[in-house]
Amino acid sequence: DDANASPPEGGGLAESPFLLACRRRPVPHTPVWFMRQAGRSLPEYLRVRDGVPMLESCARPDLIVEITMQPVRRYGVDAAIFFSDIMVPLKAIGVDLDIKPGVGPVITDPIRDAAGLSVLRPLVPDDVPYVTEAVHGLVGELGPTPLIGFAGGPFTLASYLIEGGPSKNHERTKAMMYGEPELWADLMSRLADLTIAFLKVQVAAGASAVQVFDSWVGAVAPQDYRESVLPHTRRIFAEIEPLGVPRIHFGVGTGELLGPMGEAGADVVGVDWRVPLDEAVARVDPGKALQGNLDPAILFAPWETVERRARDVLARGRTAEGHIFNLGHGVLPSTNPDVLARLTDLVHEASTEDAP
Ligand code: CP3
Repeated sequence: DDANASPPEGGGLAESPFLLACRRRPVPHTPVWFMRQAGRSLPEYLRVRDGVPMLESCARPDLIVEITMQPVRRYGVDAAIFFSDIMVPLKAIGVDLDIKPGVGPVITDPIRDAAGLSVLRPLVPDDVPYVTEAVHGLVGELGPTPLIGFAGGPFTLASYLIEGGPSKNHERTKAMMYGEPELWADLMSRLADLTIAFLKVQVAAGASAVQVFDSWVGAVAPQDYRESVLPHTRRIFAEIEPLGVPRIHFGVGTGELLGPMGEAGADVVGVDWRVPLDEAVARVDPGKALQGNLDPAILFAPWETVERRARDVLARGRTAEGHIFNLGHGVLPSTNPDVLARLTDLVHEASTEDAP
């Protein structure tokens, strides 16, 4: 849908600090949002989720809109992230799975062979009408605040599908990657298609940016990343490019992968807390903005420590061509929301003070 190739005018979206920073343009203040800003750290989230299973909440437009809006109202962050889960498109095409509280995604019949792949059919917009409806509702409520759509990266989705649940070592996943390269490529290619289709639905409905969460890809060595993951991620970003929205690419423990991840074609590379942002600048080719990277666990330290470390992230972020302040991974469930509120204000105020 060409009407959605660029954000609509008039709502101030084009001047949003978040979208400007993604495009490496000057900003009035450093934009900030938090991965997993919606969720268990918020009492208002726990209230509306009471008695509603995770995957059911992801299929109810009223709940999606409310939960997505909660952190925007509370913190005044510079972007909203669509409330959903990386497993939702898999569920929508009929993969039998659940998201268990305190555990994560669990797959009833893990994929281990060519026959297992046949469940991975293409996703069409009619598979996820609740996504389209919720994005439409959100765009109206958010006004000048951009909405980030998202999907899982192919390695991370493959790991859940093959292991059958969360995994520390990804042993079966890597056994397929190393030992059955053709089956692996088929699986990755179907997952890339699914991610592309899910991102397209969100952008067609009005999302202003997208983020690909390949959270667990840091488990892969650079050479294997280049050979077995990068071609698929590159195709995802290439096929999203014509939609005209900024593309963010994030993973955890990716210090050794930042170079090749930068080559995958996103506009913004997400950095976890292990690599200082100025060092990340040296590892990623020019022409990218960076997002990150305060350690989510720092939020449990005294405020003076949080402030000092946040200012350090801002200072290092100034060496990047564009910087979006975020945590190095998602908000931990026991985080005090008041600290995130104070941090949002600090980022806005400190980055205004320091503007040239
Ligand atoms: O606010 C936001 O960031 C948007 C919502 C969001 C969720 N999942 C909601 C959710 C996003 C962006 C995700 C992505 C996601 N899901 C990732 C990639 C991001 C990351 O954290 O690395 C991954 C790996 C998943 C898979 C998944 N889903 C896990 C590991 C869990 C946690 C399980 C647990 O209970 O500890 C989930 C469940 C989930 N997804 C919750 C939320 C708010 C918690 C479920 C609940 O509140 O009952």
